[in-house]
Amino acid sequence: MSFRILGTGSALPATTVSNEDLTKFLDTSDEWIRTRTGITERHVMNDEESLLTLATAACQNALEMAQTAPEEIELIVCTTLAGDYTSPALSCLIAKELGLSDRVITMDTNMGCCGFEYGLQIAHAYFASGMISKKAIVVSAEGLSRHADWTDRATCCLFGDASGAVVLEAAPDRKVDFDWTVSGNADILNITRHADNSPWNSYDGKGVLHMNGQEVFKFAVSSINARICAVLEKNGLAPDDIAKFFLHQANIRIINSAIHKMGVAPEKFPHNIERLGNTSSATIPVLLDETVRAGGIQRGDKIVLCAFGAGLASIACLLEY
Ligand code: ACO
Repeated sequence: MSFRILGTGSALPATTVSNEDLTKFLDTSDEWIRTRTGITERHVMNDEESLLTLATAACQNALEMAQTAPEEIELIVCTTLAGDYTSPALSCLIAKELGLSDRVITMDTNMGCCGFEYGLQIAHAYFASGMISKKAIVVSAEGLSRHADWTDRATCCLFGDASGAVVLEAAPDRKVDFDWTVSGNADILNITRHADNSPWNSYDGKGVLHMNGQEVFKFAVSSINARICAVLEKNGLAPDDIAKFFLHQANIRIINSAIHKMGVAPEKFPHNIERLGNTSSATIPVLLDETVRAGGIQRGDKIVLCAFGAGLASIACLLEY
């Protein structure tokens, strides 16, 4: 058994931070950030917001579009770098807020910016195994403003907070396939743990993001092309067969480089990095939701989602919408 996307939803924090706002406490400029990244603003959580409130709102929007009652959901996978708590898992809390059944399968997964596609892969395996047979949610909820080092101008200007969700329905013979790689590299992109106060452990991490931007950039450009070509080839498809390519939104120059390498019409690559920055695993489901609501894809269209990030991991997912 395969699946199809029945509904999409997203939610953004109310507070918008422009590049100009960042210049008040960082040695940077709107011009530098825009020309190097394409980003003009990002949304960040305030004290009234949490990953739980964002993710719940995103799921409610997706359930509404899918005309699905909460009790129909058998599995909820939440992808996040870190939930509001280390434990319990965010998926358990979202399940309660949504009023899902107490028999729903809940799980959180952390595959960095590739999380949403790994979440789809988990849901696909549950449908294929027969452990679930009706409907599932995959929701990505990310609070990068909590992980950014707001004194490091080279990284903090890149990120924002958001949540995006899909409701999936079992669908026989619907094409879904994946291609992925992971190398286990933690040197060029990582978020350290917070300091421990164990008497037996001297770890003193600050819990912030560290990145070698140029190395990540090179990895991104090569892996997008490799993953997309691999998943298309496996399925006997060419780029012309694909209605839209949804790439992880990390930098407009990475997106433009992928478009150039693949020789595909730029209109096939929607982007919102300008307004939202990089929201890790939430970039693709939020972009998908915006595109669906704007009528940018039609039922039956083949689409490809492709992400890269911490791990270093990269993954492409081919779907029939
Ligand atoms: N404002 C002004 N100057 C800056 C800023 C800033 N915000 N940030 C860096 N600079 C300066 C640097 O200090 C450096 O100055 P110097 O030459 O005097 O030393 C100069 O600009 C060039 O810095 P680089 O780091 O070489 O800039 P680069 O052109 O590589 O752009 C960037 C940096 C935007 C981070 C780019 O490398 C990039 O986008 N990489 C990919 C990042 C990415 O995709 N991350 C996604 C994975 S992370 C995740 O998704 C969770």
